[in-house]
Amino acid sequence: DESVVRRDRFSGGPARSFLSSLEADRRIFEADLEVDRAHVVMLAERGIVADDVAGDILTALDTIEVSGHENLPDGEDVHEAIETAVIDRIGEDGGKMHTARSRNDEVATCIRYRLREDVLEAIETTLAVRESLVDVAETHQETVMPGYTHLQPAQPTTVAHWALSYEGAVRRDTERLLEAYDRINRSPLGGAAFAGTTFDIDRERTAELLGFEDVIENSMDAASSRDFLLETVQALSTHATTLSGLAEDVIVFANRGFVDLSDDYASTSSIMPQKKNPDTLELVRAVAGDAAGAVQGLTTTLKGLPRAYNRDLQRATSHAWETADAVTEASEVAAGAVATAEWNDEALAAEAGEGFSTATGVADLLAANGLPFRTAHEMVAHAAESGGTYEAIEAAADDVLEEPLESYVDPAAVEDALDPVESVASRDSTGGPAPDAVADQLESARDALAAE
Ligand code: ARG
Repeated sequence: DESVVRRDRFSGGPARSFLSSLEADRRIFEADLEVDRAHVVMLAERGIVADDVAGDILTALDTIEVSGHENLPDGEDVHEAIETAVIDRIGEDGGKMHTARSRNDEVATCIRYRLREDVLEAIETTLAVRESLVDVAETHQETVMPGYTHLQPAQPTTVAHWALSYEGAVRRDTERLLEAYDRINRSPLGGAAFAGTTFDIDRERTAELLGFEDVIENSMDAASSRDFLLETVQALSTHATTLSGLAEDVIVFANRGFVDLSDDYASTSSIMPQKKNPDTLELVRAVAGDAAGAVQGLTTTLKGLPRAYNRDLQRATSHAWETADAVTEASEVAAGAVATAEWNDEALAAEAGEGFSTATGVADLLAANGLPFRTAHEMVAHAAESGGTYEAIEAAADDVLEEPLESYVDPAAVEDALDPVESVASRDSTGGPAPDAVADQLESARDALAAE
């Protein structure tokens, strides 16, 4: 048996464990069995392998599944080990399973088969994050809070407006993962080593049996491309980056007493008894670093690889598994932390107008009454330097405009503009923080969720 002889000769020697992906292939053990089944069924349907032999192979695959990955014979990878296990069970005929294929198209098919599941799970967690954010928005449409730029108080907004800002971003994360899914969901099986096969196989049939939407037509592309891995890891990394911003905001808000994390999502200190730390969110924030690292690692591995198959590809795969696991878990935790956090309405309201955050509204008011916006900006900046109170604004009008404030604007309107609640209510442009505008955004968010 030449294959046995050749395998002995290329057993790897001292490099054996370096060569082997058998441990890492645990993740695609079930996928490989499914891919084997589909391939054997197709071979039998096409009369390439006799029905009784195909039946024996399928039975052997069932018993291999029951005995599990941990009981596989030794092999360079899961594909070789499963084939050996089939031959161990039914004899030499088991070797017919590998007719008209190669491990190159086989592994590419297994990765895609398994990754579909992982991406769907990741997508589920993005929906959970969106649901948490929509729920927060629902209950806090009128909860004013300080809005920041450069971490400085900028303009008052609401908790709902803040939450929906992340909902919109996570919605796009969902879309990106769904798009990646569509391109993962195509079958390379039958591409063989890269150059197709002399056997009269039916690639559409195995694609159908494995639930793929289509085949990757060109056999060299099928066996050697991994852009689907890169795209998936990028989409996961983008989601992790979105989550890291969300986590950072909540960490800062918790620090300022605006939000109280549930004990389930906080940790304490082993030495400082008074501490309640937002550790889960700090880990969510850190996962974005791992994911970005995976994008980099994967890109670097794939860059410049010649056609067709090269063993480098074996090390590309684990980036996707690690990133899918880490980002999915981070996403789940972020969803839970946001859903269970308590917002401190009073602390938020007390801070909403701090740092003269209503200044833009005052400038807008003057501009709406005919003053060029740039002049109004200058005048209000002057008032900001003296504390941004009503009196400071009056004084600034005298100094900068050389006219009393009342000659430009109704004093009651200025008082309103200085009130964070009024300030929010007045910014009712599409997508703005005013409760009416937020109600529209909430409806879009709910509709989009219902459509997923
Ligand atoms: N385990 C390999 C991988 O993950 C597949 C084996 C293909 N090996 C080969 N020498 N062509 O890519």
